[in-house]
Amino acid sequence: MTQSLRFPQALLDQSAAARLHYFKNITVPHRHLQAALDQLLLNLREPADISIFFIVGPSGVGKTTLRLRAEKILLTESLPELRANPAHIPVAGMEVAASEQGKFSHRDYYMRVLDAVDEVLVAYKSNYGLHYSPDAIHPQRSLAALRRSLEHVLRHRQVKTLMVDEAHHLVMMAGARQMLQQMNWIKSMANITQTTHALFGTYELLNCCRLSGQLSRRSEDIHLPRYQKHSQADVTEFIRVLQTFQRHLPLATEPTLDQWCEYLLEYSVGCIGILKTWLIRALRTTLTENASTITMKHLQQHQLSVARFHQLQEEAESGEQHLINDRTDTGQLSASQPSQKPSTPKRQVGKRNPKRDLVGGQS
Ligand SMILES: Nc1ncnc2c1ncn2[C@@H]1O[C@H](COP(=O)(O)OP(=O)(O)O)[C@@H](O)[C@H]1O
Ligand SMILES: [Mg+2]
Repeated sequence: MTQSLRFPQALLDQSAAARLHYFKNITVPHRHLQAALDQLLLNLREPADISIFFIVGPSGVGKTTLRLRAEKILLTESLPELRANPAHIPVAGMEVAASEQGKFSHRDYYMRVLDAVDEVLVAYKSNYGLHYSPDAIHPQRSLAALRRSLEHVLRHRQVKTLMVDEAHHLVMMAGARQMLQQMNWIKSMANITQTTHALFGTYELLNCCRLSGQLSRRSEDIHLPRYQKHSQADVTEFIRVLQTFQRHLPLATEPTLDQWCEYLLEYSVGCIGILKTWLIRALRTTLTENASTITMKHLQQHQLSVARFHQLQEEAESGEQHLINDRTDTGQLSASQPSQKPSTPKRQVGKRNPKRDLVGGQS
């Protein structure tokens, strides 16, 4: 690897906060992320008869990272269209709040979507000189009035895609009937507004998306899987990600994370997001100690607790099993299926990614 692919060496003279900030902003493209992104973009550009997409994966695998990448790409792609039709909103994204005491708040949901649409408009306004005069949304308005405002905004702004993150919160409720009701509600919003809904969440989302026959016909799921220690292709890709991270840790001596691949793969549960969070914490301690590199001691110090590790692993395993059963039933096993042999990464050797915030080889 050439030196230029490492972090800017001037960072070594900068503050710990600046060095940490640099590493936090590093996003490494990897095979599973790229495959899910390609599948999602392909579907969102031409949604055909599908009105709802479920993007599922374990906690910390990178679902939010995937959402933000997809939003950015879709926004950039529609800039020419936007110049011709400035009122149009190609994509908006928001995060569902966890329900309070088991009660999901539709009011909170409507307000958050309205805010998300507003945010896109504000961004355009500053960038493209557009004018926006928002309806005054009074928090005390009735639920029905809020829903009408939302439908109005989605329809009139021709919001093509709404990305809903942490969408498992929509359906984490007791009883299949309530879950079905929630799904029918989302489906109805998608149909009335002609806005494709992309729901991102943990495998719990799968519990509901098969409940309604009508919904399954008009929905599709996309899996963002973790890396499995039993798959050679996965281990190879994980090592490549480790090598990219280690080159971007702004330390005097480059750490040898790839040598501890087995340990890091195991205790990150194969999730790149969990790995990244772990490395950020280890880097913070290393910088505080003024040490020249990250050692095994730093990693162990910030390893997931045993309880959390088991919880994440069990969640991932049962979700994967759920997906396998589901897809076997519906005869739609996909290439991202953990039970199948993953395809070999198609890496373009020597080709650098043009995006400034993305580093590492593109699969
Ligand atoms: N490919 C990646 N490269 C760098 N950092 C990543 C990558 N994927 C995830 N992260 C980081 O890991 C953390 C968790 O990822 P996130 O996308 O929030 O996971 P999820 O939404 O699946 O729980 C975030 O801080 C995110 O920025
Ligand atoms: Mg997330």
